[in-house]
This record gives sequence, C-alpha cells and structure tokens, in this order.
Amino acid sequence: MADNRRPVVAGNWKMHLLSADVERYVGALAPALPRNNADVLVFPSFPLLPVLRREIELHSADSLHFGAQDLHHMDSGPHTGDVSGPQLKDAGCRWVLCGHSERRADHGEDDPLVAAKVRAALRAQLQPLPCIGETAQQRDSGATTSVLEHQLEPLLEPLAESAGAPALAYEPVWAIGSGRAATPEIAQEAHAFIRSRLTSRLGRERGAQVRILYGGSVKKDNAAALLVQKDIDGFLVGGASLDPGSFLDIITVCGL
Ligand code: PGA
Repeated sequence: MADNRRPVVAGNWKMHLLSADVERYVGALAPALPRNNADVLVFPSFPLLPVLRREIELHSADSLHFGAQDLHHMDSGPHTGDVSGPQLKDAGCRWVLCGHSERRADHGEDDPLVAAKVRAALRAQLQPLPCIGETAQQRDSGATTSVLEHQLEPLLEPLAESAGAPALAYEPVWAIGSGRAATPEIAQEAHAFIRSRLTSRLGRERGAQVRILYGGSVKKDNAAALLVQKDIDGFLVGGASLDPGSFLDIITVCGL
C-alpha cells in the first residue's frame, strides 16, 4: 500500500453473533485499539448496532467504528423490512457496505441499485464501502476486467463526490468464505486495474486517494503479503473477523 493512504481494516460479521458475543468482543478488542494507525471498523447485523454502540462507549473504544451491511436507496417511505441511511446515521453508524456479493446474489442487487445505495449513503453522511468482484466462472472465461469495469462504472460519479478519502472493496466471489484467498499477484493485478480506471476517470489525485480494500479469505497468515502490494490499502474480513483475537492479528499487520 502507498504511504499516503490510511489503511482500513473492516470486519464483516454477516449474519453471525448475538448481543453477548458483542459484549465479549469489544471487551477483548478495546484495550489494543488506541495505538492503531488504521481505520478499524465492523459491520454487524442491524439488531446488534445498539449493543455495539453501547459497548464502544462503555470501553471508550472510540477508534472502533462501525457500519451496517446494507441500506435502502430511499431515505424513508413504505419499504417494509428495509433500513434507511438516516436511520443508520441515527444508530451511530459511520459506514455502510453497499452491494456485497452476497446481497447481489441473495437479493438480486444490480449495479445501478448498488450505485443508488452509495448515493443514499452519501446523502446520509455515511461512508459507503461498495463491493465489486468477479465469480470463478467469469474469471475462468477471461471476463474479469470487463466485469470489474461494469461494476465500477456507476460508482465512479458518487465516489468522486464523496468527502474525504473514499473506499471500495475488491472481493473476488470465488475467494469469499472458500479459504482460497487470491494470491498477492492476482489481487494486485485487479487492484491496479481498478486504480487505473479510478485515476483515468476521477483524475490522478482523486484516484490515488481511494482506499481499495481486498476481501476474500483474509487471515493473519496472508494479510502481510497482500498488504505490501502497491494498490492494496486494507481488508474486508469475513470469517476471521468473528474472533477478536484473529481480527486483532490482521489489524496489527495493518498498522499497530
Ligand atoms: P471471508 O469473507 O473473509 O470469510 O472470505 C469476506 C467477505 O465476504 O467480506
């Protein structure tokens, strides 16, 4: 990663953990956090947001930020079961995932909808973390760059407008939950492609500010080799973020 970009280490808890787990988690992580030199955050399920907020306050773990795993693209309205950006902001979120591949697969979220969610996040003053990445089949058929280009295209305008240093996650679908992370070379190749699209569309300076996170079977054993790659600026961690000890190991690689 480049020195001018502050790393981001994000834990995606998916549909895991209960309130008591969150209490233990924050208690275990909090003492190690004040020294960190990276943006550290977790994405719990919606019902865990209040307990997480409370535990962070209780432990004065101010440098642990959090966000939600999804939001609706409208700010309010008759959308049963959905959650809006203003509601997330009100719940203390700073961040929100948009278009994780599991949302794309389970809920049919397409590129325009993901871009609309990114815009909704920005309206609510949340930092969006949109996710892109190819399937195994797309990679095998040589379509990786065209898939990434398509997924990225509608995100460019909202990313250009976002305040501060935007972030984006590259998560090859075949690496998620498979225990088979992309090699540093494969990941860097995709990140470099994404960076080149960003700089050509947003300008050199803005494109260089975007933190591009890698996600897909990140563990403490592969984190360091991935992070030394020029265009890898942190991680979106699923399974290994569920245990505070293994998440801390990855945070340590990124900036303790
Ligand atoms: P994983 O998940 O680390 O368990 O592969 C990553 C993700 O889906 O964000």
